[in-house]
Amino acid sequence: MRVIVTGGAGFIGANLCRELISRPQVDHVVAIDDLSTGSAANLDGAGVKLIEGSILDRTLLEEVVDDADAVVHLAARPSVPRSLTNPAASHEVNASGTVYVLEACRRRSIQVVAASSSSVYGSVAELPKHEDLATRPLSPYGASKLATEAYVLAYGASFGLPVLALRFFNVYGPLQSAGHAYAAVVPSFIDAALRGEPLCVHGDGGQTRDFTYVGTVTRVLADAVVGGVTCQTPVNLAFGTRMTVLELAHRLAAVVHVPIEIRHEPPRAGDVRDSQAACGRLRQLFPGVAPVSMEAGLEQTVEWFRGLPQYAEERMLSHGSTSQAGR
Ligand SMILES: NC(=O)c1ccc[n+]([C@@H]2O[C@H](COP(=O)([O-])OP(=O)(O)OC[C@H]3O[C@@H](n4cnc5c(N)ncnc54)[C@H](O)[C@@H]3O)[C@@H](O)[C@H]2O)c1
Repeated sequence: MRVIVTGGAGFIGANLCRELISRPQVDHVVAIDDLSTGSAANLDGAGVKLIEGSILDRTLLEEVVDDADAVVHLAARPSVPRSLTNPAASHEVNASGTVYVLEACRRRSIQVVAASSSSVYGSVAELPKHEDLATRPLSPYGASKLATEAYVLAYGASFGLPVLALRFFNVYGPLQSAGHAYAAVVPSFIDAALRGEPLCVHGDGGQTRDFTYVGTVTRVLADAVVGGVTCQTPVNLAFGTRMTVLELAHRLAAVVHVPIEIRHEPPRAGDVRDSQAACGRLRQLFPGVAPVSMEAGLEQTVEWFRGLPQYAEERMLSHGSTSQAGR
């Protein structure tokens, strides 16, 4: 089969392209990405075709989707803080862009598996978050992802399109970018730890998150595509592992084997306090999937970061300055 991955040069997208192409049922994988937050280098050696373009380009979308058997729709303007800077841009890509992807798929009635987000639960305090809870997004990003999943499910209901909308929680792993204002907590912590800098915690660090290793997420996505899995309701894609941000910092210290220092900064607007998924619906649809443990996931992520040139240079610099100081 031929699979299109929108946002395929991004963190989750590039990991997914590799997983898909490793499946015997999949002959071709095509990534469409405008490289706004993703990078062509993420697909180096993956054996996947990258089409550089935007999902807002409807003509391009129709051409790309024309001979596809399934689309995994991951392209989005990610992050809560980014959406606070430019809410309209988040809406345009995440809401309108989703409609354009669905329109292209509707013409051929092909399967659409799409990324929604735990941010749709917003201010709803109940834990764990199950899919029948109310949705009350706290940020433009959360609202735009609610629009993403609502359109996906509405196309399923209205046009019989085979759809699956998965609510990702906090995904982490290799290829996730760090060192910029919108970076997620795991890569930010690893980046700081490897540079010997303090880990920046927003608020008291008691906020909780449900972390999922990217390999677990891509396994579910690829199983969904090759198995033609659909659902009329949204489905959480996380396993109910609730951890405070401070606990994450300490677990990471044990993996990186360096002493860590924590610097507290003011809480960020739009961030939810607690997050934990109920995973009953996910387990029903994907009974064979077991999540990669946090320890194994963090180890693989740190190993990937350690292989990046910037950290090698950092190590050489600190080594060089120590030996110079010793002369
Ligand atoms: N990483 C997480 O923890 C997390 C949590 C919840 C939901 N999600 C969702 O998962 C999906 C993938 O996120 P990610 O973490 O890999 O982020 P990412 O930024 O690495 O990936 C998004 C990709 O979409 C591309 N893109 C953006 N606008 C585009 C456009 N107009 N046309 C084509 N491509 C475009 C970007 O260049 C990037 O490659 C997103 O839909 C995001 O909302 C991620």
